[in-house]
Amino acid sequence: MSMDFELRQRGRAAIDFIGGMGMSFGRIGAKVNARLAETGLDQDANLADDLDQRQAQLEGALGPLRAFRVGNLLRDFYADEHGRACTLAWEELADELRPALEAADEGPTTLTLDPSMEQPDYWRKVDFHRTRGGWEGHPDMGMIHGELIHKRLVNRSYGGDIFGQRRRVLDELPRKDYARILELGTSTGHFTTQLQAAFPDAELHGCDISATLLKHARRVGNMGGHRWRLFQARAEATDQPDEHFDLVASYILLHELPADVTRAVFKEAFRVLKPGGDLLMSDVTPYRALDRLAQWRADYEGTHGGEPYWREAASLDLAEVAREAGFIDARSYGLEGGKYPWATYARKPR
Ligand SMILES: C[S@@+](CC[C@H](N)C(=O)[O-])C[C@H]1O[C@@H](n2cnc3c(N)ncnc32)[C@H](O)[C@@H]1O
Repeated sequence: MSMDFELRQRGRAAIDFIGGMGMSFGRIGAKVNARLAETGLDQDANLADDLDQRQAQLEGALGPLRAFRVGNLLRDFYADEHGRACTLAWEELADELRPALEAADEGPTTLTLDPSMEQPDYWRKVDFHRTRGGWEGHPDMGMIHGELIHKRLVNRSYGGDIFGQRRRVLDELPRKDYARILELGTSTGHFTTQLQAAFPDAELHGCDISATLLKHARRVGNMGGHRWRLFQARAEATDQPDEHFDLVASYILLHELPADVTRAVFKEAFRVLKPGGDLLMSDVTPYRALDRLAQWRADYEGTHGGEPYWREAASLDLAEVAREAGFIDARSYGLEGGKYPWATYARKPR
């Protein structure tokens, strides 16, 4: 969004406090690592194969360590409070910013809502990231999540360029001439913005389950002067015509889906792609690319961090899922030799 705004005092302090807490995890983690090294549990060979058994093994070894318990407490506090801090920051600003935001409801970007759309339990019943009420926990969740949590908190405390990563993944695509693109899981439009920059001449469509988040994406599109076509739909049942798109893409949608829904999403992408069309799904690192300790860490954070499908998502081989859906040339890999973001590319045969 091209709108600049200053946080008010209380909101800024709350976000700085939570962000500072996020940055302290590293020092606590060093003590946990030292205990793991002492006990030999930093070695794959000493860790149980089964993830539940490994969890019990590591909790047994680390439980008595104060740094581990403090780390868990801080993580729980961060998870529960980050949404609240950003909501507070927003509510201090809402009266001042609302007129400009509402003005951006009008413009070249269109949004088609479907009030009869069935909201699946795997989405409706989950407080993702432990944000109270989940994706629709506040009428202004688009602003709170897209502009405050992501831009003012996560992007600063995470230590990586979360928007650059969205841009970078698009360099993996073999073509520049996509005429019509469908984005799945558009949310507040962060990835849409990067698709727009990478493919400025393409007709850009984006869907999401959440009307609240899509309304914010519409404002982002309008503020950028973009002609996005947003619509409310499930990625596994988009209601779009067969063979309609040249590219189907998503960024960090899949780890929020049960594995059977992910399989259905790939089949739906196959259906709506033109013959020869491309698929690019970007998401979290699969467990097979991590050692046992790193798998446990990811699993532990997912379990405690409001990501109930992380384990099943990270256990999938997405290239295989793509082949099962009919795609060819499927490959799944970490970018630039790293582990994140993880890209899955595939092509629909001609
Ligand atoms: C982590 S956000 C993705 C964010 C966005 N792609 C980005 O790059 O910032 C996940 C989004 O997927 C949406 N979502 C979850 N399940 C979905 C489904 N089955 N179909 C469409 N959207 C879904 C959620 O409502 C949420 O907006």
